[in-house]
Amino acid sequence: MKPRQLSLQAFGPFAGKESVDFTLLGESPLFLINGPTGAGKSTLLDALCFALYGQTTGNDRSGTQMRCDRAAARDLTWVELTFTLGQQNYRIYRLPEQDRPKQKGDGWTTQASRVELYRLIGEGDEKLLGTKAGEVTSQIQELLGLTVDQFRQVMVLPQGKFRELLLASSRDREAIFSQLFQTRIYKQLENKLKAKADSIQREMQDHQQRIRGILESCNLHMEEEVEQELQALKPQHQELHDQKDAARKKHLQAAKELDQAQQLEVQFQNQTRLKAEYEQHLQQQAMIADKEKQLSQNTLARKIQPQRDEWQRLEKQQHRLQEQLHACQQQLEQVKQQKQQSHEHRQQAEAAEKNQLPALQKEQHRLQGFQEKVERLAAYQQAATEALQADQQAAVALEKLQKQEQQTREQQADLEKQLTDLDQQQEALAQVPLQLQHLDVQRQNRQQLDKLYQNQEQLTQEQQKARQQEQQAKEFWQYRQQQAQEAEYHWHLGQAAELARQLHPGQPCPVCGSQEHPAPAQPEGNLSLVSKEQVESARQEMDQARELLQGWQAECQRLEIQLQENQRAQQEFQEALQERAQQSLDELQAEFNHLQQQEKQRQDAQNKHQELKQLQRKGQQALDDLQTPLQAAQQASQQAHDQYLKEQTHLQQLEQELPAQWRTRQALQQALDSLYQQQEVLQQAREKAQLQDQESDRQMARLTQQENDLQEQQSKTTTELKTADEHWQQALQTTGFINLANWQAALLEESQVEIFTQQVNHWKEQKHQLQGKLDHLENLLADQKPPDLDTLKQQEAAAEQQLQEIQTAFQTVDQRWNQLQDTAKRLKKAHEDNQALEERYRVYGTLSEVASGASGSKVSLQRFVLGVLLDDVLALASRRLDHMSRGRYALVRSQETGGRGASGLDLQVHDAYSGKRRDVATLSGGESFMAALSLALGLSEVVQAYAGGIRLDTLFIDEGFGSLDTETLDLAIATLMELQTGGRMIGVISHVSELKEQLTQRIDVLTDMRGSRLQLQP
Ligand SMILES: Nc1ncnc2c1ncn2[C@@H]1O[C@H](COP(=O)(O)OP(=O)(O)O)[C@@H](O)[C@H]1O
Ligand SMILES: [Mg+2]
Repeated sequence: MKPRQLSLQAFGPFAGKESVDFTLLGESPLFLINGPTGAGKSTLLDALCFALYGQTTGNDRSGTQMRCDRAAARDLTWVELTFTLGQQNYRIYRLPEQDRPKQKGDGWTTQASRVELYRLIGEGDEKLLGTKAGEVTSQIQELLGLTVDQFRQVMVLPQGKFRELLLASSRDREAIFSQLFQTRIYKQLENKLKAKADSIQREMQDHQQRIRGILESCNLHMEEEVEQELQALKPQHQELHDQKDAARKKHLQAAKELDQAQQLEVQFQNQTRLKAEYEQHLQQQAMIADKEKQLSQNTLARKIQPQRDEWQRLEKQQHRLQEQLHACQQQLEQVKQQKQQSHEHRQQAEAAEKNQLPALQKEQHRLQGFQEKVERLAAYQQAATEALQADQQAAVALEKLQKQEQQTREQQADLEKQLTDLDQQQEALAQVPLQLQHLDVQRQNRQQLDKLYQNQEQLTQEQQKARQQEQQAKEFWQYRQQQAQEAEYHWHLGQAAELARQLHPGQPCPVCGSQEHPAPAQPEGNLSLVSKEQVESARQEMDQARELLQGWQAECQRLEIQLQENQRAQQEFQEALQERAQQSLDELQAEFNHLQQQEKQRQDAQNKHQELKQLQRKGQQALDDLQTPLQAAQQASQQAHDQYLKEQTHLQQLEQELPAQWRTRQALQQALDSLYQQQEVLQQAREKAQLQDQESDRQMARLTQQENDLQEQQSKTTTELKTADEHWQQALQTTGFINLANWQAALLEESQVEIFTQQVNHWKEQKHQLQGKLDHLENLLADQKPPDLDTLKQQEAAAEQQLQEIQTAFQTVDQRWNQLQDTAKRLKKAHEDNQALEERYRVYGTLSEVASGASGSKVSLQRFVLGVLLDDVLALASRRLDHMSRGRYALVRSQETGGRGASGLDLQVHDAYSGKRRDVATLSGGESFMAALSLALGLSEVVQAYAGGIRLDTLFIDEGFGSLDTETLDLAIATLMELQTGGRMIGVISHVSELKEQLTQRIDVLTDMRGSRLQLQP
């Protein structure tokens, strides 16, 4: 697990939202988390641990206590961590339960805790893995492979707790190691072997019990008794078996005989029953004969049915004709009455038409005469309306022109007023151009003066510098002068010594001529003699220095003159400026700007004045132009009005000729239409009455004809009916029926005929059948006698009794026989099973004992594997520790129980100073920090290398460095730096600021009154 990004809000001392991007530190960085005590360094680890597990590192602070008491009420407390695990990235977000202000209204409410775990699937997409606290925590445990306690012991060394792994008991260490190296499989193997061996052993213990159980089931105690009893029982078993077969055969024979006798008995009984049935059947013979006679009478009567039917048909026809005739006569009566009415209607309608029509036609002609006048009236009205419109339009046009004239006059007046205002303005600003010119000159003067001031300052500075230079040059020249003098002096001295060297006692001195030389000049110490050339060059150097000095003196003079000139110029400008000299250039400039603005205003006013003048001229022109159209419009308006009055007179004349009622086309047309309609109504009524009258005539003729036809048919039918009656009487006589009633009684219903025929046929058939059966039995039993059933039954019962007795005897013996045989089989199987078990136990029992440490080296398999791994860890850890303690300490496994003994995972430290081992608990604070650090580093290195284990690619060390002296601290840091190449992220938390020099990649935790903040220094 490597953290990528940690964000938190209102958490511990962090009042606001803070974020650290660990990826900015590089792939596998070694970095420092630095800040004063209480700044919030450990809180960062708490946040990391809380994000993952919902618990803090120390477990002294609970998640819910972590809300920052300085945070703003609306900022919720939460932590979010993005981390890498193998190839995958995950994001987890946790928000502990906390109080927060209600979103609506006052007061507080409880914000429930929240957790979200996502897997990032690239390009900003993520898959939600869980939102339930328990679920997510177990998912994290599964992903990281560590419980929160194990995480604290191997991924972070929390402040004040780094000794924990060092001092952990064998058992605790076994738990951590087996988790880290995933060695549960060995433990599982041990357990499986043990379970297997135990179960085999249990089965073997059950064996004797099983044998005893099998024997008990047949009431025996010894296994040999089974075979003995089987031998003894064998002859009796065989004998009874044979007897049973014989008895069964005898019984079968008796049963067969009894069965045959019973069948014979049944046949005799059948014969008796059939005879009785036949007798009974013959008793119905008389009744059947009667039915046969009724059937033949019916057939005779049916023969003359057609004659009877013909008579009935004719009688019905006669009756129907009578009814038709009656109906026809009634209709005829009605039509006669109708004819009378229609005749009257016709006469009335004809009269009405004749009386009313002339008056209507006359009115029609009168109204038609009005039509032409109405048309003319409409034309006049149209002309009058148009004239009125023209009149109104002319008035509107006139009014518009008048309004336009009025507006133009008002505008002119307005312009006049504006012009007067502008004149006043211009007058007020008339002086401005002159003032501006004057001020511009003053402004330039003032600028010149400022330049002079600046110049003076610069000159003064230069003068100062030149004076300094002059002073230096003077000193230098003096120095050179002195040097030249000294050189000359030494040269003279040298010359004296040279002379003295040539002096010889008794010879005269070339200078003084004395022959005695009591104190000849001595060369000065070992000082080399000064040459003539050296003296010469010293003199030259002195001259150069003097020239330099003279140069600077001239410069000083030049500057002095310039300064004086500057002063004089200043005076001139000041006089020209008078009191304005006191004003600053800015003030002058401001004044100048103000005047410029006024000048602009003045020019604007001038321009505006010209513009307005122009407008005024245009306005006057417009007014002049308007006069002509105005006069034309007035004339047009007058003409239009005259025309309207003329049309109006025409109209009134015509209206006098037309009654008011008929002045519209519509009213006249309506009246005419109504007249046409009335005429039409009269004509139609008359035509309809005529048609109806003719229709009555036609109906009367038709009905009279019908009446005659019906009377003729009636007389014909009466003749036919008489003939039919004679035929019927004749038929009755020939068939022998006395009268109609006698014939009707002989007729049978169709269904009755069917029933009677069936009864007769059925009776005859049955008689035939019974006779056949009786004849058959008679033949069969001709020479048979009824059997003796009782004797036969007794014989069969006796045979059965005997069979059962023998069977019972056999069963008792057979049961025991089978039981014994089964027992023998089960015993054999039990022995075979036991042998197989013993063979298997020899394998599993031995393996289990070895694996669980019960025999052999007395070390369990898992402990053995863990021991080997621990040795690897300790080898690496000791190398680091040896280095950090400058060769003093190494970590070793406790040997108390000898070698890779039973407890096996306890630690000791080997002290090279004494050559002895002692408990790790005896180490000092600083020493145990080093030991713990070495152990953690060794552990993560081995775990990393151990394929299939958990990846420990991150290590945070919270404090502890403060307990080290400077030299040890350097060694520890050097060790860490060396390790950093192993692909691990190592975060060192410390308030010790010297570490900053060594670990330049830093996360600074800054703090003040408002809360802490984070700053990354990559
Ligand atoms: N809920 C909280 N609100 C505000 N400050 C807190 C809260 N909990 C702890 N603190 C303070 O925050 C600081 C946290 O200290 P810690 O992270 O252990 O500091 P460091 O490890 O930098 O020495 C301490 O001063 C502690 O009193
Ligand atoms: Mg701390």
